[in-house]
Amino acid sequence: MRLDQFLSARTMYTRRQLRQMIQNGAVTVDDIVVRQAGQTIQPQRQRICLEGKHVPGDTYLYILLNKPRGYVCSAHEPGQHIVFELIPPELMRKDLQPVGRLDKDSTGMLLLTDDGQLSHQITAARSHAEKYYVIELARPWESFYAQRFADGITLADGAHCIPAKAACIPGTENKVLVQLHEGKYHQVRRMMAALGNHVQSLQRIAIGGLILPPDLPCGACRRLGDEDIQKILKSRSDFATMLQILKKSSS
Ligand code: URA
Repeated sequence: MRLDQFLSARTMYTRRQLRQMIQNGAVTVDDIVVRQAGQTIQPQRQRICLEGKHVPGDTYLYILLNKPRGYVCSAHEPGQHIVFELIPPELMRKDLQPVGRLDKDSTGMLLLTDDGQLSHQITAARSHAEKYYVIELARPWESFYAQRFADGITLADGAHCIPAKAACIPGTENKVLVQLHEGKYHQVRRMMAALGNHVQSLQRIAIGGLILPPDLPCGACRRLGDEDIQKILKSRSDFATMLQILKKSSS
């Protein structure tokens, strides 16, 4: 593969910009400066760096972002802060897309990838990769909520949600753990509205068996490896165990 072709697919720069950067000595292949844009490279075997930053050679890129409040997931909302602003240039690729959405005011685990197939597997209706949210309600939790979640809530516009789980985090009266297998627009907020309550804050804490790492600061991101992807697709976080963990961390 040509060096400029590889870098164009893996970064936000155009081929023209890259040719200039390569000529200026901004690119190294295995620590040696290369000035020919057309040089043939083997991205899986060689270490390619642009302005000193490693540009990963794997076919697909998987990123976990701890999304802060106030950022939107779509790149097409003028005047808004977008989650792509939080991705460092060396990890940015033209085809990178969020896997599902988190609302502007929601926080927590957001996956981004250029692997469309994986994205579909996770977001598909009735996906096996369940999503976990911790929400804070404006009014106290009511015990009938749990059964309504289990039965499948009907939203104000008539849309039916498939059965889900919700429980109040022990030791609190308005913090709730929610588990969903689907991702309708503003789903958790609309489910709670259908029950007569209001979501004040919402944080996604896990997808499948992958839990938001406590050491990943809000606004920071990290690359995920194959074992993380396997956790998302193949393993489960147990609802009761998650509730116990949250009980301990809130006490
Ligand atoms: N449900 C919501 O209402 N908002 C989100 O951001 C995610 C799930």
